[in-house]
Amino acid sequence: MAYNPLDNRPNNSPYGSGDPYYHESTGYITPSNPKKGISNWIKIGIPVAILVIAGAVVGGVVGSRHHSSSSSSSSSTSGGTVPGGAAAASSAVSAKNAIGRFATATNTEFEMPVYPSTTNTAVFTSPTFLSAAALTWPQDPFQPGANPTPTQLRPDRPRLIAPAYKWAMLPTFIASDPYFKGWNDTIFGNATAYFSLPPVVYHMDGDSGILDNAREIKMRIKAFAYVYRMTNDTKWVDRTWQELQNAAGNGTTQFGPVADKWNTAHFLDTAEFTAAFAIAYDWLYDLWTDDQKSQIRFTMNLYGLGPGLQVYQGDPNGVGWWSKNIEGNWNCVCNSGLTMGALAILGDDTTGNAQALLGFTIDDAKNNCAQAVSNDGTWSETANYWYFGTTAHAEMSSSLITATGSDQGLLSVNPTFNMTGLFHMYVQGATSLFNYGDHGPNKFSTTANSMIFYASQYNAPQFALFQRDQHDAPEPWSMFWYEPSIYGAFWDGMPLDHFFDNQLDQWASMRSTWTDNNALYVAMKAGQLQGHQTHNDLDCGDFVLDALGTRWAGELGSGDYLSLDYFTSDEQNATRWLYYRKRTEGQNTILVDGQNQDVKALPKVTHGSTGETQGSSTVYSPPSGSTAYWVADLTSAYFNVTSFQRGVRTLNGRKQVLIQDDINSQGAIMWRMHTNATVNVDSSGTSATLTLDGQTLTMQILNAPAGAQITTGPTQRQPNDPPLPAGQSDQPNPGVLVVAINLPAGTYSLQVLFNPQWPGMQTSDFVTPASVPLNNWSLTSHN
Ligand SMILES: *[C@@H]1O[C@H](CO)[C@@H](O)[C@H](O)[C@H]1NC(C)=O
Ligand SMILES: *[C@@H]1O[C@H](CO)[C@@H](O)[C@H](O)[C@H]1NC(C)=O
Ligand SMILES: *[C@@H]1O[C@H](CO)[C@@H](O)[C@H](O)[C@H]1NC(C)=O
Ligand SMILES: *[C@@H]1O[C@H](CO)[C@@H](O)[C@H](O)[C@H]1NC(C)=O
Ligand SMILES: *[C@@H]1O[C@H](CO)[C@@H](O)[C@H](O)[C@H]1NC(C)=O
Ligand SMILES: *[C@@H]1O[C@H](CO)[C@@H](O)[C@H](O)[C@H]1NC(C)=O
Ligand SMILES: *[C@@H]1O[C@H](CO)[C@@H](O)[C@H](O)[C@H]1NC(C)=O
Ligand SMILES: *[C@@H]1O[C@H](CO)[C@@H](O)[C@H](O)[C@H]1NC(C)=O
Ligand SMILES: *[C@@H]1O[C@H](CO)[C@@H](O)[C@H](O)[C@H]1NC(C)=O
Repeated sequence: MAYNPLDNRPNNSPYGSGDPYYHESTGYITPSNPKKGISNWIKIGIPVAILVIAGAVVGGVVGSRHHSSSSSSSSSTSGGTVPGGAAAASSAVSAKNAIGRFATATNTEFEMPVYPSTTNTAVFTSPTFLSAAALTWPQDPFQPGANPTPTQLRPDRPRLIAPAYKWAMLPTFIASDPYFKGWNDTIFGNATAYFSLPPVVYHMDGDSGILDNAREIKMRIKAFAYVYRMTNDTKWVDRTWQELQNAAGNGTTQFGPVADKWNTAHFLDTAEFTAAFAIAYDWLYDLWTDDQKSQIRFTMNLYGLGPGLQVYQGDPNGVGWWSKNIEGNWNCVCNSGLTMGALAILGDDTTGNAQALLGFTIDDAKNNCAQAVSNDGTWSETANYWYFGTTAHAEMSSSLITATGSDQGLLSVNPTFNMTGLFHMYVQGATSLFNYGDHGPNKFSTTANSMIFYASQYNAPQFALFQRDQHDAPEPWSMFWYEPSIYGAFWDGMPLDHFFDNQLDQWASMRSTWTDNNALYVAMKAGQLQGHQTHNDLDCGDFVLDALGTRWAGELGSGDYLSLDYFTSDEQNATRWLYYRKRTEGQNTILVDGQNQDVKALPKVTHGSTGETQGSSTVYSPPSGSTAYWVADLTSAYFNVTSFQRGVRTLNGRKQVLIQDDINSQGAIMWRMHTNATVNVDSSGTSATLTLDGQTLTMQILNAPAGAQITTGPTQRQPNDPPLPAGQSDQPNPGVLVVAINLPAGTYSLQVLFNPQWPGMQTSDFVTPASVPLNNWSLTSHN
């Protein structure tokens, strides 16, 4: 696990205690052992007999499970009536299990799943949940009455996420389902690795966080408690106790100050510690002595639940800004941790904190956390903050369902929350996320496994089928959220493109296939520049481009979260907008007069797609007429611009990309793109060859305006930028170049064509599109 060095600069968050998060002073965290081996797909052979069986049953067997979305119980797994019956379902399960896990590896440079080249159409069918005849979770024996309240709890333990009836099924599922088997193995391996480590060492990141500590402890406790329950070996209980003692300040080394050990000033930490203790208390309930139980409760109340209740009772210490109108991950994480803590000890708690808290946290999360998803599914912070927000939202919803028999409305209060799974799928490129804005801290216990939970809760099996092959899938939550009756391939029927049109975050996602790490992926955003919990950049028109297994145009990510006034304001004059990575010049878009964009931007977008969906094969090439385009009117994002539209489209069956800027500007224009590639500008000055990861991409200015030249330069501040505050600096961006095109004030159509040099493609196979004004772009305008 890579850690970045931390420093002790003062916290300057607007939020009293500061956003918190982890700062990047040294660039990016990359996998410690990156391997590149993704281009040679492995052919797997499916035994013919199984194919025949599956071919015969599929279609009859594959029925969809209709349970009401956001139902009050997660246990209603019985499906619709399905023709074919139990025998057919069982054959289908045999066929899918014979394949094993669909992805053969995730140890690629970008940790993306590698899908084999196969046309196994018998099993790669539309995502669904098989009928009740298939391997599936039984109904929860705990069935609450008509109006389940948050304080009438299931009689048995565990209460949180993993009730006993589910543990009882795991040996069967592990024996019969390759995903359960693989995940169980990995969790055991991870738990064994953590076992021999010393307890997590307290590390205060300035006064803005011990969040890494809290999440690492939570990650360990989940694994230890899981392995105990799967083995009955009490060494795991002892090791859990050691970690609890350490985090309670009762270990052999100092753990923070006496008064505020879980750092309520930065309440995320408090909440994640509370969640960790809740899991330990609840999952190992029968193993603790009464004394131990009392000690765990004491510590949770003192450092977690007590301060949490104070937030809701006048907030005397001013640490509860997150509870008021914060539609973002903070509200989710804080309420989720407090809720899990309260549910874990309710009934044993003699302080009244647990009962009282449940009267606040659920409504607060419904009003705030659950509203962080826009009506198009986009998480209103960033693609990375989606992980923190939805992990907590899913943990809280799941805990409420198992403990009280109802999600208490958390899953349904926002009627389009279910769309956030689509957001995650489309914001994931062929190599990595369209990771605009801040990237956030280390993830530890945070994963994308909310996708697996939402799949069942929202009857959207494609979410789980997508996530189950990802590198972060194996961890205890997956073992309880995954439905073994799931069937099919997420890509079958999945549209290649999606346009997210909510004004807050307008953006486009276009790709050539879902199952090849070498795919073409281009994504571009417009949207508003405020209203993202101050995690955004001034980045209307910003894009990323993936092709040939690498990222050609990419993001710089977070600045140093401890920089002066990094989070204080997102007004035009905010200090945040002085830092390179947050400025417009730090984005892959147009810069006018070297100035930042206008924070009051209100872009308008139009778009089109020929609408292909990938079929069942992992081997997919879009037809030659397949295309998508997206045009944003960004005039409102600029000063000194009379009109400006930026468009992006795929060409030539999605093998090429055109980015076009139709602009009338009184200010000097600079086209900018950040890349890790080595760039060689050709002698004409209007085309360039980029090389990266052993691959090549050419870019070319079409119909080049007089004087337009491609240049390269370092990722550094423009000469006329306002100075940084005293003592502040930008983070280095090692290996990153800016590719730029400068034009004086004037009216232009600047067209930049990107040609990834696909294997086997001749120069003559590339198209040179006609010049078409963006106002005239259509699906056929470039045929
Ligand atoms: C879970 O994985 C561990 C480690 O591979 C293995 O020893 C154990 O038998 C597995 N559990 C079950 C129920 O198969
Ligand atoms: C868990 O184990 C897997 C498989 O060995 C490994 O790739 C992963 O990095 C481990 N996770 C952590 C958090 O140590
Ligand atoms: C652990 O103990 C429980 C309760 O005695 C028992 O039901 C279960 O089978 C045991 N599990 C293992 C893996 O020994
Ligand atoms: C830690 O020690 C304090 C003081 O002795 C005690 O009150 C508390 O219960 C202990 N907490 C745990 C989790 O052992
Ligand atoms: C989300 O729910 C709405 C309303 O039930 C439904 O129309 C839509 O298809 C769902 N979206 C997804 C991705 O499941
Ligand atoms: C450069 O590569 C790193 C590691 O893959 C990545 O995180 C970063 O976004 C890339 N930068 C650009 C500008 O593409
Ligand atoms: C930004 O402008 C507001 C309103 O004029 C002012 O109160 C604030 O101090 C300014 N902030 C900075 C960082 O200059
Ligand atoms: C607008 O353009 C003029 C002329 O180039 C320049 O002097 C002025 O600073 C620009 N204003 C802004 C806000 O960029
Ligand atoms: C753009 O579309 C308009 C209206 O359809 C048409 O009159 C005009 O000729 C088109 N211009 C170009 C350059 O295609």
